[in-house]
Amino acid sequence: MRPRQSDSAAVSLSTAGIEKSFGATRALRGIDFTLHRGEVHALLGENGAGKSTFVKILSGAHAPDKGSITIGGHTYARLDPSTANASGISTIYQQSALFPSLSVIENVFAGHMIRNRSGMLDWRKMEEETRRIFRQLNVDLPLRSQLLSLDKATVQLVGIAKALSTEAEIILMDEPTAALSSSEAETLFDIIERLRDAGKAIIYISHYVDEVLRIADRITVFREGQIAGTALKGEADRGWIIQKMIGQKPEKLYNRTYRDPGRCLLEVRRLSSPGQFEEVGFSVHEGEVVAIVGLYGSGFAGILSAAFGVDDNASGEVLVGDERVDLKPWAIRDRGVGLIPGDRALQGVFREMSATENMIVSSARNVSTFGVLRRDRIRSLAADLFRRLLISPANEQLEVSAFSGGNQQKIVLGRWIAALPKVLFMNEPTQGVDIGARTEIYRLVDSLVNQGMGIVLASSDLNEVAGLADRILVTTAGEIGAELERGASVNDIVHASNGFAVSDGLSRA
Ligand SMILES: Nc1ncnc2c1ncn2[C@@H]1O[C@H](COP(=O)(O)OP(=O)(O)OP(=O)(O)O)[C@@H](O)[C@H]1O
Ligand SMILES: [Mg+2]
Repeated sequence: MRPRQSDSAAVSLSTAGIEKSFGATRALRGIDFTLHRGEVHALLGENGAGKSTFVKILSGAHAPDKGSITIGGHTYARLDPSTANASGISTIYQQSALFPSLSVIENVFAGHMIRNRSGMLDWRKMEEETRRIFRQLNVDLPLRSQLLSLDKATVQLVGIAKALSTEAEIILMDEPTAALSSSEAETLFDIIERLRDAGKAIIYISHYVDEVLRIADRITVFREGQIAGTALKGEADRGWIIQKMIGQKPEKLYNRTYRDPGRCLLEVRRLSSPGQFEEVGFSVHEGEVVAIVGLYGSGFAGILSAAFGVDDNASGEVLVGDERVDLKPWAIRDRGVGLIPGDRALQGVFREMSATENMIVSSARNVSTFGVLRRDRIRSLAADLFRRLLISPANEQLEVSAFSGGNQQKIVLGRWIAALPKVLFMNEPTQGVDIGARTEIYRLVDSLVNQGMGIVLASSDLNEVAGLADRILVTTAGEIGAELERGASVNDIVHASNGFAVSDGLSRA
């Protein structure tokens, strides 16, 4: 344990009575909040509770309707981005604000490029600085590469390096691990601990309760725009957090009702993608949930997109029923297979379209008669999915950008469920989704397979896998190393992966 010195408890930032509405939505209703130097202060809360809105107010992206922010002895009615920056605040957003086609260096310094005396951009200086920051983070990476050539974890590190490049004293992180595997998350935790020990103040938003219990010094739970409770490390446990989040005792998360699997719906043979995985094969039957799990470096994450034909480097055979299908997304989709992509922030939503439009783009067939779209069907389909997935606000006509991050995830999920495929590939379906909605998604998975759908689930959440799957395929080093039956525990899965899992089995639930 790190000794707590009295000066490290000094207040870094505080807010009083912060309120913020978007039209009729009261996103924040009076937030009194204190952040100390040298602490990781976690914010938890259901989707739409107001966490991101609060962070955006601190970073100057939104102006509050009421209340004040005190920082460095000054009290402000609102911050704009440059005042926030000058006050030492830096933000790593839920939806990446980085530029995929620019280099690491350009991304780190975008918005505050270093110029030399004659006003020219000083690339040498910026490269040196970037190198220094990554050295401090203990990571080595190609600084001149475009971001789109790097994996998600590395991109996340670039976001952190950017925060550090502004000499930030206060770092706001909005779900930084949502897209990371558990061992990628480990690297991030190391870095967060180091930043904290260096006296930085960190706000850390996450839906992963175990993760928060581990790295937070203080935990604040948001509920419907208010603070439901604050506790110090050691005072809060899982039950307390969930109770504060949802205002009641947690329900059972997994409710699978099992049935005997029916005929084989889809078979994948000798699927390879160079450098990722080699000659992988699996099948899925009616009424079955097959999980593919893997750990860092095991290459499992790309298997589903390759089997859906969206990986140009992949080769192999996909059979739907008994027929071989071209390894092309349109051909595979035509045969009744759907894919929920993992990188939903990038590939998922059409932000300027309404929620309803987003949900029907893939299922025009189910809501039209002789090619004519049926408004009544569209409306009832969207309303039904809103209800089943607890999407809030419950207004299907709003444009997607008016929904919180987790609710946007649910809208993408809704799209693929609305299309009612025979086989559904799900990549990390509960990433960024709160615990209440997660229960609903698990219930939905159960009801879909009971109606005969076959589901292939790729997930790094081992609790989710153990709770849902009929069969578990464990990948190690790019191959399927073991197959486990329903009833296998998280420990069994870790064991089957040759102990490549993080040793204390960080669960992401
Ligand atoms: N730009 C916007 N326009 C309209 N409504 C918005 C906007 N941004 C947020 N809201 C609404 O404000 C409320 C709080 O959203 P916020 O994004 O802060 O939630 P959150 O706690 O971060 O949720 P999540 O866990 O899903 O990311 C939600 O009801 C959301 O729909
Ligand atoms: Mg959010």
